[in-house]
Amino acid sequence: MDHFEYRDGQLYAENVKLADLARQVGTPCYVYSRATLERHWHAFDSAFSEMRHLVCYAVKSNANLGVLNLLARLGSGFDIVSVGELERVILAGGDPEKTIYSGVAKKEHEIARALEVGIRCINIESTAELERVNKVATRLNCVAPVSVRVNPDVDAKTHPYIATGLNQAKFGIQFDEALETYQLIQSLQHVSSEGIACHIGSQITEIGPFVDALEKVLTLLDDLSTQGIQIHELDLGGGLGIRYQDEQPPSPAEYAAAICKILKRHKWEVQINIEPGRAISGNAGILLSNVEYLKHNREKNFAIVDAGMNTLLRPALYQAWHEILPLQTAETRPAALYDVVGPICETGDVLGSDRKLAIAADDLIAIRSAGAYSAVMSSNYNTLGRAAEVIVDDDQWIVTRQHETINDMVAGESLLPD
Ligand code: LLP
Repeated sequence: MDHFEYRDGQLYAENVKLADLARQVGTPCYVYSRATLERHWHAFDSAFSEMRHLVCYAVKSNANLGVLNLLARLGSGFDIVSVGELERVILAGGDPEKTIYSGVAKKEHEIARALEVGIRCINIESTAELERVNKVATRLNCVAPVSVRVNPDVDAKTHPYIATGLNQAKFGIQFDEALETYQLIQSLQHVSSEGIACHIGSQITEIGPFVDALEKVLTLLDDLSTQGIQIHELDLGGGLGIRYQDEQPPSPAEYAAAICKILKRHKWEVQINIEPGRAISGNAGILLSNVEYLKHNREKNFAIVDAGMNTLLRPALYQAWHEILPLQTAETRPAALYDVVGPICETGDVLGSDRKLAIAADDLIAIRSAGAYSAVMSSNYNTLGRAAEVIVDDDQWIVTRQHETINDMVAGESLLPD
C-alpha cells in the first residue's frame, strides 16, 4: 500500500496536493512518500521479528540522502555495491557495522575504506577478490569479515537483465565451488567467514525461487558445519517484486513466513540478513512531468513530456511498464491513446505506449512506481539536468535533491589549453 491517491480529482502524496508541489519545485521531479517508505521498511522488519535479523536496504534502488537518512533513523542496515554508496550511507547517518558490501568489481581502495570504517561484511564474488581482500586486510593489519556469495543456479523467473542466480550470470561463486572457497578462507590469515550470501535476481513475483535458493544454501551450511566451519549469518539478498501493473507478488509477510518455516526446521542458529530495495522504495515514489506538447501524426498521438529515458530509463531498457496518470482528472478533455515520449533524440525514448489519457498541453502527469531504479539510473544524456527529488511528509515537503544545473553538469570538464 502507498500514500498516493486522488481526492476530488487531484492526486495527492500523503497530504500534499501534487499539482501545487510540481508548480513550485518544477518538473521533472521525483516525489517520495516518507510514510510509505517507513511502512514498507517496517513490513519487512516485523515480518522477520521471530528471528534474529537485519533489514539491509539495497542502496542501489534509491540512494537519495534524504531517503537513506529516514531509513537510518529507523535503525535500518544497508546493502551497498560501491564505496560511493558507502559514503552516502555514512553521510546519511547510517551505521557501517550494519552495512553489507556486495558487487563483483571491488577495487583495493574501496575494500580498504570499507574495512577502515568497520563494515559488517564483505560479500565475496570470486576467489581473486577474496585474495585481494586478504591482501588489503593484511596491509591494514585487520581481519576482514566475509561471506561467500554463492550462485545457486536457480531461475528467478524474471527479466533476463535482472536475473542474477543462474550459472550464466557474472555474480557469485558457483555453488559446487563454494566449499573450496570457504576452505581457502580458513587458510588465509586476514579474512574470517561470517556467513553465506545469495541473491538470485530482482522483481521476483513468486515464492518458489526464494525457497529453492534457500534450500540449496542450507545444504551448504550443513556441509560447512560438518567440516567444522562456523557460519553466523545468512544473507538472503533482495529481489521481492512489486506491483507495477497486474503482478501479484507475495507480501513481505508471506515471503518471511516461507523463509522462517524452512529455517525453523533447521537446527542451526543463524542471523538472517535481507536486502530488499524495490519492495521498500519502488511504490514509495512517483515521477512528475509536464506535458510540453501534444502531437498527432497519421499513425500515432504523442504526448511529449519533459521526462524521458534520461530521467526514467526502465521502460527503454527493460520494456518496463509504469502506470501513467494525470495529476488532475478533467472530464472536459477528450481521452485518446497516446505514446508518452520524452525530449531525447532517440526513437526508444518512450515512457509508455498506447496509454488512454485525457490531457492537454501544459497538464501535469505522474508516472507511478518510480521510487526504485529510477532517479538512480538517470543520466545527463542530451545535456539535460537530472530531476529534483522531494520527500513528502504529511502536509510538508522537503527538496532532498535540487534540479541539476548546467554548472553541475560541466563541473570537472575543461577546455583545451591555449
Ligand atoms: N542485493 C543484491 C546483491 C542485489 O544485486 C540487488 C539488486 C538487491 C539486493 C536488491 O534487489 P531488489 O530487492 O531491489 O530487487 N535496475 C533493475 C534492477 C537491478 C537490481 C540489481 N540488484 C530494474 O530497474 O529493474
